[in-house]
Amino acid sequence: MILVTGGTGYIGSHASLVLHEAGHEVVLLDNLSNSDAAVLDRLAVLAGRPFAFVEGDIRDETLLAQVFAEYQIDGVMHFAGLKSVAESVADPLKYFDNNVAGTRTLLGAMSAANVHRMVFSSSATVYDGSQRPPFAEDAALGASNPYGNSKAQVEALLADVAASDQRWSFALLRYFNPVGGHESGLLGENPRGIPNNLMPYICQVASGMRESLTVHGDDYPTVDGTGVRDFIHVMDLVDGHVAALDYCMKNSGVLTANLGTGTGTSVIQLIETFERITGNRVPFQIGPRRPGDVAESWADAAVAERLLGWRAKLGLPEMCRDSWTWQSTLARGDV
Ligand code: NAD
Ligand code: WQD
Repeated sequence: MILVTGGTGYIGSHASLVLHEAGHEVVLLDNLSNSDAAVLDRLAVLAGRPFAFVEGDIRDETLLAQVFAEYQIDGVMHFAGLKSVAESVADPLKYFDNNVAGTRTLLGAMSAANVHRMVFSSSATVYDGSQRPPFAEDAALGASNPYGNSKAQVEALLADVAASDQRWSFALLRYFNPVGGHESGLLGENPRGIPNNLMPYICQVASGMRESLTVHGDDYPTVDGTGVRDFIHVMDLVDGHVAALDYCMKNSGVLTANLGTGTGTSVIQLIETFERITGNRVPFQIGPRRPGDVAESWADAAVAERLLGWRAKLGLPEMCRDSWTWQSTLARGDV
């Protein structure tokens, strides 16, 4: 059985479904701080049966001991974490406590229960962006905010723990820019408040919830002056997690792998593709650069291909289509 922390969140919910489809038993743990229990109903529809769920916090040692005692856990997919860059700048202690100390508590409970495999949600934000992309795993590190630092600190902790005892097996997966949702429209990203990320913002403008998008800068040294990112479909991303879990079953130590498509797309190119695929207009205006943004970021995804046999299959049209299907489902109030 696989424990999925953050299982009702955006990526964790998709991962839970594909784990089930790959034949794994799954138990989800989430404190619902950034997700809704209604996700469980939709997962049950998609899987044809309910998922085991524990409402609780990865920092709760007693609860974790109970979970590991009750379920026969073979490995952990660890998605639980806070992910707002702006919030992390305002409250770094909160990010250290939740993301770093939370992972430390989880590792203690795993160790006590003799569970030594974990797939961890890291981020391309650990790269310092000083080199030209593509970013390979050995590119210079240096996060520019407390959120990114929390990911780098967990990566370092996992490396130290793995070095202490060869039973540990960790996959540190550095995501680029996950977008899209399950093609049914039943799972997707539902940010609370004003979206920070580009695709949810585009979707909300297209659906009329917001008047227009502000493009943060058009004077970068890129194809059209706007920022370039490596958008990756969430279904591809979670397939990479199943492959990484398989890898952890067979290998010990630490695997660090980028999960991206290896292709860069500019903000304007994404808007144009979204408009073409969905038939919606996305009015926008150009604003100043957003502090902390790099001009360009995309992955060198060769390690994941070589060691996991994984590569992204879905393109920008599918990412736009499935983001919009999800947004339309939300707008109809079906979820
Ligand atoms: P999300 O907020 O949708 O999901 C995270 C889930 O974890 C939420 O359901 C939240 O309620 C839960 N959670 C948070 N703290 C918890 C705690 N202490 N105990 C139990 N549950 C807790 O975010 P997501 O986009 O699905 O991201 C999943 C992971 O991937 C996060 O660790 C995030 O940092 C990482 N990541 C996300 C992106 C991205 O762009 N979405 C990129 C790189 C890395
Ligand atoms: C993409 C591009 C913006 C919004 C962030 C986190 C990172 C990771 C993924 C978790 C940039 C531009 C955006 C808008 C815009 N999360 N943009 N108008 O910044 O690559 O990464 O999410 O690990 O840590 O920093 O993604 O979607 O915010 O921005 O023009 O309203 O879209 O400037 O060029 P980013 P993003």
